[in-house]
Amino acid sequence: MPKTATAPPASPALSVSRPSTAVSAERRHEVDAMVARAKTAAEQFRRLDQEQVDRIVLAMVRAGVRAAPELARIAIQETGFGVFEDKVVKNFVATEFLYDYLKDKRSVGVIDEDVERNIVYIAEPIGVVLAITPITNPTSTVLYKAIVAAKTRNAVIFRPAPLAIRSCQETVAVLVKAAEDAGMPPGALQVIPDAAHEVTHYLFKHPGVDFIWVTGGPKIVALANASGKPGLSVGPGNAPVYIHRTADLRGAVVDILISKTFDASVICPAEQTCVIDDVVYEEMVAEFQRMGAYVLTDDETDRLATFAFGCGDKVNLQALGQAAPELARRAGIEVDPATKVLLAPLPDDLVALAAHPLIREKLMPVLGLVRARSEQHAIDVAVLVTEHGGLGHTSAIYATDDSVITAFSLAVRTGRILVNAPTAVGALGGIYNNLTPTFSLGCGTWGGSSTTENVNYRQLLNVKTVSRRRTPPQWFRVPANSFFNSGALENLRELDTKTVVVVTDGPTEHRGVIDLIRARLHSEHVYVFSDVTPEPDEGVIQRGVEMLDRVRPDLIVAVGGGSVLDAAKAMRLFHEQPGQTLDELTLPFLDPRKRVAEYSREPHRVRLVAIPTTSGTGSEVSPAAVITVGPRKQTLVDYSLVPDIAIVDPLLTLSLPPAITADSGIDALTHALEAVVSIFASPYTDAFCVQAARLIFDSLPRAFADGSDIQARTDMANAATLAGLAFSNAFVGTNHALAHAVGATFGLPHGRANAIFLPHVLRYNAALPTKFMPAPGYSAYVAPDKYAMLGRVIFGGRQPEDARSRLFRSVDDLLRAVEMPRTLAEAGVDEDTFLAALPELAMTALLDVSNRTNPRMPLLVELTDLLRAGFYG
Ligand SMILES: NC(=O)c1ccc[n+]([C@@H]2O[C@H](COP(=O)([O-])OP(=O)(O)OC[C@H]3O[C@@H](n4cnc5c(N)ncnc54)[C@H](O)[C@@H]3O)[C@@H](O)[C@H]2O)c1
Ligand SMILES: [Fe+2]
Repeated sequence: MPKTATAPPASPALSVSRPSTAVSAERRHEVDAMVARAKTAAEQFRRLDQEQVDRIVLAMVRAGVRAAPELARIAIQETGFGVFEDKVVKNFVATEFLYDYLKDKRSVGVIDEDVERNIVYIAEPIGVVLAITPITNPTSTVLYKAIVAAKTRNAVIFRPAPLAIRSCQETVAVLVKAAEDAGMPPGALQVIPDAAHEVTHYLFKHPGVDFIWVTGGPKIVALANASGKPGLSVGPGNAPVYIHRTADLRGAVVDILISKTFDASVICPAEQTCVIDDVVYEEMVAEFQRMGAYVLTDDETDRLATFAFGCGDKVNLQALGQAAPELARRAGIEVDPATKVLLAPLPDDLVALAAHPLIREKLMPVLGLVRARSEQHAIDVAVLVTEHGGLGHTSAIYATDDSVITAFSLAVRTGRILVNAPTAVGALGGIYNNLTPTFSLGCGTWGGSSTTENVNYRQLLNVKTVSRRRTPPQWFRVPANSFFNSGALENLRELDTKTVVVVTDGPTEHRGVIDLIRARLHSEHVYVFSDVTPEPDEGVIQRGVEMLDRVRPDLIVAVGGGSVLDAAKAMRLFHEQPGQTLDELTLPFLDPRKRVAEYSREPHRVRLVAIPTTSGTGSEVSPAAVITVGPRKQTLVDYSLVPDIAIVDPLLTLSLPPAITADSGIDALTHALEAVVSIFASPYTDAFCVQAARLIFDSLPRAFADGSDIQARTDMANAATLAGLAFSNAFVGTNHALAHAVGATFGLPHGRANAIFLPHVLRYNAALPTKFMPAPGYSAYVAPDKYAMLGRVIFGGRQPEDARSRLFRSVDDLLRAVEMPRTLAEAGVDEDTFLAALPELAMTALLDVSNRTNPRMPLLVELTDLLRAGFYG
């Protein structure tokens, strides 16, 4: 039993004899009055502090310890079972051991604090607890439950097993006296002596009862669970014990004899069937006999079974809790008066065993014996035994071989699995192990309990979790080395390398850029991969990886626009981590710090130098690589993608035609304008956004008008990298989500797609959101203020409104100045094609990771509206 025992099959038998009458009105009044008293006491109890509570608990424990022998005597006298000395021990476990466990525990107010996670736990009592206690431990369970209830400031009403009422009353009397003297509110400990089922049923449904705490047989457990009230019910046990061939047999025999004779086995975790490996069976049984056990003949076994279990599913009360010689005598078997335990050999065939009456819990010094043919057979027998009334309770194994202990533990469904220790005393905790001391052994759902634990004060508390808001720490990560300004390419000369792969695209190779690179590299082998296409797809990446796998370079130099740099980042990733797939690594996420996709944390084997020839993407410093997968753009994001070295040489951008200058420049501006309002924006990223935007507004029109203006090119090159550093840490937003969807579907250059949505997204984010983005680091909706801040720093304006509109107007002016198409229609997208694609585009944009850091949470309909605005203007 769970617990503590109550006689499992026995208890139903014990209580059926009561007449079943409805509760009289008068009795109902009396019960109501007791519950009302308990309720008042519980309210007063709740006002006591930890010190007052601990004083009450100590007083109860002292009184319980002093009364241990007397209460044991009363228990024996009333129930007629068990062993006096052992009942005394049980009473000590329920007081002294319990106190040792409880004394330093906090059970009132703040009981725990998790400083790291900013969480405080506050304990509150439950209120009125109805405690059902068993006949098997009629005083110890009462001592234990009463003390645990006091520790948790709960009032208890005991309803003891019908044949153990006086034991309960006497125990409570001892405790009430001591506890009330120490300050316990009167009414906090009461006994309802009615054994009538009706009173129990009435209490189970009573509105004044807050919690039902049952220790008993399966029927009362089921009844309590059906009452509809919160509760904790623990039921019967039927512990198997496996003696493996590696066990210390002599030690095991003594343990089992201690345990099986403990209180004449009226305790639910006691050993019930012993499964012994074939090779040690004879030796084990001989040792049992030498130590005082008696092996029953087949005939005697049958006689005992008939005596104890011959009357249907009820146990013969005469068979419970007697010493072995007395039990034998009652069953008509003759044994030596010194006999400790009766051993009953049981069938080893599983079907025959399942049908044997002695497979059940035997609350008497009778232990079944089964000879095991193999480890698996032994485990099967143990499992079978638990399935006959012992699921969830207790089992044991004696072995020194860890693998069999593990196999047994995995297979057997019991809440406690004791290794090389007696179960009866062991499962109560504190004697043979560090289990929590208890007389309430949770049996898990298998046994009708909500827990498999050794129940104690924690289960009698309502614990409140006070969780303080926590703003997660942020970061600002940048690549180790960035070189900039005209001539920065010279830094290639410093690199120590043997084999280099230069990644680029056809046009860049034709412009002679690779020669500039080669001339500055001191390496034995320089290979060139020039197949990157704009907005690169998986095929390009794969071909690049094949080349890297073949050549095994120690350095990759990526030189080109964002497409080239992104392709090179992905190539290095899949070359170094051949087991990874694009599909897994681009798994969508809500919070980059918690996402499921796992990037390798190993140091790179191949260094990556990124040399941009456009001034836009910031890919040379960013942790992102955008890859086209079918009709979609997928973003790989992880700091392991950041290049080791960025070389930002504006001389390489002089050849950019005006359209690409504009496209890539607006991409950079979009990075700054999205990062500044991102939910991950910080003072660090804001600083980069401001300077990047300032440089772009000033220099992009000049670079566009005169591609050879080296000052304008230099400012643009630096601005793009600064914006890259900002969005590498704050990330982008809805503008990029829309641009990715539209760009991939209609083949628009990335920057141009950004340009079309930029004015709309700025106004969208500046308006009052329909839905805010949940973000602990972003407490108020500051996006409009951030735009105003940026506008004021660059363009002036006193009022936020004014500064913001200056910013928005300047964006419009800039887009016009660099001749950006203002609508998708202008960019050449056909209306019918657009409308047909619209639902899919909106969904693609919604799922884009860029949305995760937008300050406003975009709704699907809002994205649809923004897409329409992008088409029609
Ligand atoms: N990784 C990131 O953090 C990040 C950020 C934003 C955008 N992107 C991605 O970057 C890509 C866009 O990159 P991009 O805007 O640099 O364009 P791009 O790399 O696609 O280049 C566009 C065209 O310009 C040509 N070109 C490049 N440099 C030139 C030069 N100096 N002179 C003449 N022609 C030149 C290229 O050969 C190509 O034909 C997109 O795939 C986009 O999704 C990545
Ligand atoms: Fe971009």
